[in-house]
Formats: sequence, C-alpha cells, structure tokens
Amino acid sequence: MRIAVPAESDKNETRVAATPETVKKFKNLGAEVVVQSGAGAASGFADADYAAAGAAIADSAAGALDNAEIVLRVRRPSAAEVAGAARGAAVISIADPFGHEKELQELAASGVAAFAMELMPRITRAQVMDVLSSQANIAGYRAVIDAAADYGRAIPMMMTAAGTVPAAKIFVMGVGVAGLQAIATARRLGAIVSATDVRPATKEQVESLGAKFIAVENDEFRQAETAGGYAKEMSPEYRQAQAELVAAHIAKQDIVITTALIPGRPAPRLISAAMARSMRAGSVIIDLAAERGGNCELTRPGETTIDSGVKIVGAVNLAGRLPATASSLYAKNLLAFVETLISKETRSLAIDWEDELVKATALTRDGAVIDPRFAPKA
Ligand code: NAI
Repeated sequence: MRIAVPAESDKNETRVAATPETVKKFKNLGAEVVVQSGAGAASGFADADYAAAGAAIADSAAGALDNAEIVLRVRRPSAAEVAGAARGAAVISIADPFGHEKELQELAASGVAAFAMELMPRITRAQVMDVLSSQANIAGYRAVIDAAADYGRAIPMMMTAAGTVPAAKIFVMGVGVAGLQAIATARRLGAIVSATDVRPATKEQVESLGAKFIAVENDEFRQAETAGGYAKEMSPEYRQAQAELVAAHIAKQDIVITTALIPGRPAPRLISAAMARSMRAGSVIIDLAAERGGNCELTRPGETTIDSGVKIVGAVNLAGRLPATASSLYAKNLLAFVETLISKETRSLAIDWEDELVKATALTRDGAVIDPRFAPKA
C-alpha cells in the first residue's frame, strides 16, 4: 500500500500533510510512503528528515502519486493533480467543498474517493481527527501574537522608574476553539481580557480562563446553542441589543479578536464601521472570520486596512503562519483517520463505507459525487 504526499500546489500554503513523525507511523502500519521533494520545506521538514523516517522521495508529484492508494494533502487537489494514483484511491484533504461542485465533479470523474476532513463529525471517537479544532486552536493563538506585534504599545502592565505602562485591553468575540485559545494567550501576555459569545456554555469557560464575560443574557441567549454545540443565528432584536452592549465596550478596547461563525451561514456582522472607528488610533482588530465574510464591516479578506488610525486585519490561513505546528497536528489528524481506512491484516486500503466517519466525510466514490449537498441536481 502506497501513501503519496505531494507538495501543495497553492504557493501560499505553507503546511504539509505528513511529517517525519507520521511517516514513521505509516511505515509501522506496513505502508510505503512517497513524499514529493520539497513538500515539507515551508514547514521546516527537509527531504532528508522524511527519508530518515523511512519515506521514499520523488522528484515530481507524478512520481509520488504513481499507483498510490492514499493521497494526503492539505488543500483539495484538482483532478489533474491526482492523475496516476490508483483507481479508487482515497484522496484526503481540507477539501473546501462548498461552492466547488464543479471541481468535485472532476475529481469524481477521475475515479478517486475524495474525503473532506473538515466534515468530520465532532464525536468523541473522532476528536483526534478534528482538523477544525487543531487548526483553529493555532489560529487563535497566532491572532493574539500578530495583534501584539501590530499594536504600538505594550500588552502587560509595566511598572518602571519612568512611569507605569497600563495593561492592554483585549476583547475576544466568539468563544469557540479559536476564541478560547486567544483568551488564554492574551491572558498569558498580561492583557486585561474580556470575551463574548451567544452560547451560554461559554460564560463559564471564559470566566475559568480569568476573563470577563460580556453578553446580553436574556431568554434567547439561554437557548442559543444547537444540539451539536454550535451557535444559532440570532434574532434582529437580540443582535440589536448585543450591538449596543458591544459598542460601548469596544470603544474602550485596544485589541479586538473576532472569531464568530455560524455553520453554513455567512459570518455574523458584529462590528460596524462606526464601532471600529470608535476605538482610539493605534488599536487593532484581527478578524478571523474574514474568509466567511468577516465579523467587522471594514474587513477585507487577506488585507490589512487602516481606518481612522485603527488597523483591521482580514486574517486568512493564520494556522499557516505557524506551519510546523499546524502541520504536525494536521498530519496527526490524518494519521488517525487513515488508520480507520486500512485493514491491519491485509495492510491495504479497506474503506468501510458504512462507518459514520466515512459517511460524513466522503465526497466522491466510483465516479460520482456521493454527498448530496454537492452532487449535480437532477
Ligand atoms: P465556530 O468556529 O463555529 O464558531 C466560533 C464561535 O462563534 C462559537 O463559539 C459561536 O458560538 C460564536 N458565535 C456565533 N455567532 C456569534 C455572535 N453573533 N456573537 C458572538 N459569538 C458568536 O465554533 P467552533 O470553534 O468550531 O466550536 C463550536 C462548538 O463545537 C463549541 O461548542 C465547541 O466546544 C464544540 N467543539 C466540540 C468538539 C468535539 O466534541 N469533538 C471539538 C471542538 C469543538
């Protein structure tokens, strides 16, 4: 059984889908691993590190893919980029399927079984495969580090002979995985931290990290969590009350980190242009929801905007700014999933199409798009 690790084709992608550590584990499972030369370079993993772990190094993607039964990628490859893999090969990536039906159709036609890691159910058994968590955790950390670097003042309080420097005030909006890590990181840097979310369960989490919880805690708030643990879209009345509360709070903050998302919906708009402009010059907003439309009205994905002296960062792929750590965790997420796709006895690919993890993540099979959300409409 051959596992291919081609280099990422998106030049902005710094992560890699396997590390020397996971290569060693795959070898122990009886697999042959072929890594394309340079695949780990941007993450700090040299060809020699992979070779020392037991991988073969191929000069080209085609060389790595040749007859591979499993293809590991960070981002979804095109059909052309999996040419040469075995028929029915499992192609596993963060596949970003929404809005990419045509690309999925082409992948299906190429005969591979494509899987989207971000569709992994959030159940106990699959926690170790949860790429949304592993990458959001790093993004939340990195957001605070970037904000601290962009902010022209100190984060912790400093008492010096020349005077006292006040601690920075950092406000985190959205307390999922990224938000919790942002709160913890901001606290470690010595900031005065507050946070908001619409899910009542987050109140205790915020307070347990030593931050202040800010929210309109009415009846709607008490019922705002779905059975799956996600946020619901709130009523216009709630959003109005939330906006008023947040507006007064934001005007006094130095740094705001926004991470608020609702599954399958555009990111909720939490910071109006006027609210952003109410912050003093030199303040920083890092918008982690930039790719889904942004939590701040002034956000432009992938760009940094300065408006009334306030810096607004439309953060994209923040996990990729910590490529070695992000790759290590992502590669382990993949390893855990791949272990469920292979037979320990025959040491070959043996996908159990009835397994709930497979059912949730499989996009294509036997030439067709099998996830009805992305299949061509009859
Ligand atoms: P997410 O990335 O979907 O959203 C981020 C946060 O934004 C959420 O906390 C959400 O409540 C919040 N939000 C949405 N609308 C908002 C608004 N108008 N104002 C303020 N905040 C708003 O969330 P993530 O990080 O994926 O976590 C979602 C849930 O999944 C959490 O309950 C988390 O604990 C849970 N989870 C469960 C796992 C498991 O069981 N394996 C693993 C990871 C997370």
